[in-house]
Amino acid sequence: MISCHNGVFTLKTKNTCYLFFRRPSGHLEHFHYGEIIDTDGPDALMQKNEFLPGNAISYSKEDSRLNLENLCLEMSSLGKGDIREPFIGVTLEDGSESLDFLYDHHEIYQGKNDYESLPSSYGSTDEVETLVVTLKDRNSDLKLELFYHVYETVDVITRSSRLINCSDSSVILKRLLSAQIDFPHHHYSMVTFHGAWAREMEKTVQPCQSGKLVNSTLAGVSSNRANPFFMISGRETTEEHGDCYGFNLVYSGNHYSVAEVSPYGKLRVAAGMNPERFSMNLGPGEAFQSPEAVMSYSKEGFTGLSHQMHDFVRRHIVRGQWQWKQRPVLFNSWEASYFKISEKKLSGLAKKAKAVGIELFVLDDGWFGERKNDESSLGDWHVNKKKLPGGLRGLSEKINALGMDFGIWVEPEMVNEDSECYRRHPEWAVRIPEKHHSEGRNQMILDLSRQEVQEYVIDAMRKVFSSGNIRYVKWDMNRIFSDHFSPARFSASGEMDQGSFSYRYILGLYRILETLVAEFPHILFEGCASGGNRFDLGILSYMPQIWASDNTDAISRLSIQEGYSYGYPLSVIGAHVSDCPNHQTLRNVPEKTRYHVACYGLLGYECNLEDASKERLKEIKEEIREYKKWRGVYQFGDFYRIPHPDVKSWMVVDKEKKRAVGSIFQTLMKANRPDLIFRGKGLIPDETYHFYNIPITHNVKTFGSLINTASPVHIRDGSLTQDLIAKFYRLEGEKEDCRIRGSVICHRGVSLKQAFIGTGFNEHVRLFQDFSSRTYYMEAD
Ligand code: GLA
Repeated sequence: MISCHNGVFTLKTKNTCYLFFRRPSGHLEHFHYGEIIDTDGPDALMQKNEFLPGNAISYSKEDSRLNLENLCLEMSSLGKGDIREPFIGVTLEDGSESLDFLYDHHEIYQGKNDYESLPSSYGSTDEVETLVVTLKDRNSDLKLELFYHVYETVDVITRSSRLINCSDSSVILKRLLSAQIDFPHHHYSMVTFHGAWAREMEKTVQPCQSGKLVNSTLAGVSSNRANPFFMISGRETTEEHGDCYGFNLVYSGNHYSVAEVSPYGKLRVAAGMNPERFSMNLGPGEAFQSPEAVMSYSKEGFTGLSHQMHDFVRRHIVRGQWQWKQRPVLFNSWEASYFKISEKKLSGLAKKAKAVGIELFVLDDGWFGERKNDESSLGDWHVNKKKLPGGLRGLSEKINALGMDFGIWVEPEMVNEDSECYRRHPEWAVRIPEKHHSEGRNQMILDLSRQEVQEYVIDAMRKVFSSGNIRYVKWDMNRIFSDHFSPARFSASGEMDQGSFSYRYILGLYRILETLVAEFPHILFEGCASGGNRFDLGILSYMPQIWASDNTDAISRLSIQEGYSYGYPLSVIGAHVSDCPNHQTLRNVPEKTRYHVACYGLLGYECNLEDASKERLKEIKEEIREYKKWRGVYQFGDFYRIPHPDVKSWMVVDKEKKRAVGSIFQTLMKANRPDLIFRGKGLIPDETYHFYNIPITHNVKTFGSLINTASPVHIRDGSLTQDLIAKFYRLEGEKEDCRIRGSVICHRGVSLKQAFIGTGFNEHVRLFQDFSSRTYYMEAD
């Protein structure tokens, strides 16, 4: 609900409210974002100014005690005394840069407008309400619109801004952020998710103390270096309690967020497109809209915030036919065969995949042009007939005949120097003519800022997507930007405007995606950029899921997937079971743990099923059967990170709270810590749940020579006898099976069977060595 009384704007969601005030000077003073408060007027909340401290700037003769440097503002600019991080920066025709945006008028309406060429959140007129406050610069003919969209039920408010040049001369826009919140104090921490390839989403907590903390990238994509999602939390905030603010950006290019402590102890948090490597000529009458920033507040700690973000992403970002559809269990050919594919090999894998219950067979890289490694053929999107004589149609028919859907990998934004595409159109590659160019993965980026290149990509992909019964597309992007340049002339005046290249690239990409997604609504698109190098809300506005990381090692995935879970729901996170030793870490992790971890994402298999033993195939078949019964809970339930002193613990509860799944993951075992309690969350306290696990069996080899303490005959570790016994005899694992109240599971926790510590193994003891895991199911009676 949005209202304005006595100059106070109140934006209310179910549990939060956001307040700001139109000061007599025309500046918008930020009052509050957090728990719901009711106020009749501004008096108690307004900043009091009786004198100016020391050498501070006095705003004007008429308002001589107003010091903008020490005021919580809705937006800020340089030149009138506020020297903190500016929200907007413009160079006017005369070269001056002082801006002073003052309230002009406002408008409130149900629903939400689209942002023309940028993706943004969506909702029906019942779900979202909009406030637009229009400000005018005191010294020029620039207008600034501040957009606020209020999603009441999910406790989210989104913001964007639009600069309109109403003057008759051009100006240079140097920055326009999307959201700014000035907190009255700085007793907060900034929580960011930095990382790298194969090491995405490492959570970092830094107290806001003085100066600036920055979360940003210049990779040209939202990047695995610094995900645009971040939080501002109270210093004492935990998973369950305390203040927590979450921010994200519906944009896939360079982003920038800052938490700046002012000399007066206030905290400015601002987020938007990165002003570095950006500038844009804005001719008379032209306007620029900043990407949409997402904000949410919870007093119920990180979990409360995550649930709000998850609901928002699922309901108001992800769209199309797949939004609420359970995602198929897929097989991906990459780690099974890399570039070495043939129809025979793929058919072999497909038969095995079908036999274990896979629903979607995905052909990854290697199928087009002369592609035999990563040095050639990107840009040549025609099938390699030597590898696939029947083409994509032939292969997809074979896959369909087996009873699976067929999907394909593409990397449309790229071109290799060794390709027909580059030989024909070298000018389409992003590089500075006549200058040395730096490549990534032997490839160059196509200049999507140019319409003809967009048309080429749309046309090439249209042909690929229609060349067989293709139901899934993995859209990859495997390098970051280096030498920026486009020969295209962007500005109306015909001047070169290289400063806007990165932004125009992203607009080009969005146009391509918009077109293709509309033309192929039945296709399930999965975004990918060397794993999670472009995991953001812009991509999720077109593709309902993203491949989270090229690292498929389950132990690494514990932190990667947990990192994503703070801001993104499990229904958008691709996660696969792969072979061991793992191809990225060479770590050996039990099959069950690989499966248990991948379930907390969208389960797929990316391993050589042809080489898998009969036992493993049987195990995989059981896993997939089990997952299909529970995937509705995993994909669309409420996810909990459960703090635990000894193990990593996760849980998902369906929205009705009738079915839940919880897991414990052992990283390194600690000797003589036999007792473990599984504590759940989110269940109905007085509901009775059947709590159980699916017992597993153990290989006798796990015990090595220790088996001799129980065996009547001596068994040498590594001997043929041991192999033989292991083949025909397995040890029963422990069983948990009880009926208990939700209150017991959540408030006390279930005392699990004792863990093995070197002695006394039987079928009531949990073998819980390094990298083990267990999953427990909970079903209301
Ligand atoms: C990227 C992706 C991988 C795989 C390869 C193929 O690295 O992230 O999953 O598709 O490209 O070249």
